Amino acid sequence: MDMKQGQGAEELFQAQSHLYNYTYNFIGSMSLKSAVHLGIPDIIHNHGKPITIPQLVSALKIHPSKSTHVYRLMRLLVHAGFFTMSKVVVDEKEEVVYDLTPSSRLLIKDNIPNMSPYVKAMLHPALVHPSEYLGEWFHTNEHTPFQTAYGMSFWDYFGQDQELNSKFNEAMISDSGMINLVIKDCKYVFEGLNSLVDVGGGKGAVGRIVSEALPNLQWTVLDLPHVVENLQDSNNLNFVGGDMFHSIPSADAILLKLVLHAYSDEDCIKVLKKCREAISSKGKEGKVIIVDIVINEKNDKHELTQSKLFFDVLMMVMVTGREREEHEWEKLFLEAGFSHYKITPIFGMRSLIEVYP
Ligand SMILES: C[S@@+](CC[C@H](N)C(=O)[O-])C[C@H]1O[C@@H](n2cnc3c(N)ncnc32)[C@H](O)[C@@H]1O
Repeated sequence: MDMKQGQGAEELFQAQSHLYNYTYNFIGSMSLKSAVHLGIPDIIHNHGKPITIPQLVSALKIHPSKSTHVYRLMRLLVHAGFFTMSKVVVDEKEEVVYDLTPSSRLLIKDNIPNMSPYVKAMLHPALVHPSEYLGEWFHTNEHTPFQTAYGMSFWDYFGQDQELNSKFNEAMISDSGMINLVIKDCKYVFEGLNSLVDVGGGKGAVGRIVSEALPNLQWTVLDLPHVVENLQDSNNLNFVGGDMFHSIPSADAILLKLVLHAYSDEDCIKVLKKCREAISSKGKEGKVIIVDIVINEKNDKHELTQSKLFFDVLMMVMVTGREREEHEWEKLFLEAGFSHYKITPIFGMRSLIEVYP
């Protein structure tokens, strides 16, 4: 290493810092998880105004020996943008106070959306563990690192572990909270439709919101039997246990929300063909409505692309899926026999894709 050139050394140290950042990304994830575990966003929210460290410590009910460490956790989370830190003068004394940011407001228990169940479930040790096998998996012929870690597929594992399964379902509901609220405002998407099957619709979170807003639309949730068992039908919302690879009830439209990204191209084409059959009675007016990620490195901000690429590798670790660029989506639609599609990027990280026969 030629240290004579200051520029070279600076570059090297920057590179080292970059490496440290990626090596310790998990510390960021776990600090966020611990803030959720400790209920810090709720404590600040319930406090009703920015909180001092002594007030936070007293509300946390932690072991006294840990009270001096709380500010260290907060310092990192302030740096990461989850809280703000500012100085105020109280009784002529300057005090440091912490407040919520839009990101930590998404973690408040009684709010909709509340992403806390998502953070807790997706950072559950059982779900973090398979990513350790990513490198090793490239040398094996296993379908996923998840399979390498547990000897079974993600879906089989969840079928066996009811506790984790219910945490995962709650995570999906919490992740969808915001989109679900917005979908009901996209009435134009559902115009002219009398019936819709929400394939892989989970516990019917979006179904409940939209079917209430559009009482003339018959909404059917199709999901695996263990997911929909014991769920109550209501007026225009019903649940069907089944397998989308075998049969999809016929309807004017099919919704696939955050489903296809979990599957390989071959599997997506199989499902899309089943969807095309299911909407065939509506002729050219039937459609498949997809809500999913579309990678667009050219137009998206760096942070948004990073989230989408994290999801892509997550799909590689957990399931046989992938996040797709527009041309990759188009290929699937054409191979499944559809003729055209329209992409509207209206759900933050996810887009709305309408696909027509
Ligand atoms: C990522 S979740 C998305 C849930 C929901 N659409 C949402 O946006 O919150 C994927 C869903 O697909 C369901 N699923 C997986 N395999 C399926 C299959 N073969 N047939 C029907 N549903 C399936 C899962 O049980 C899960 O509820």
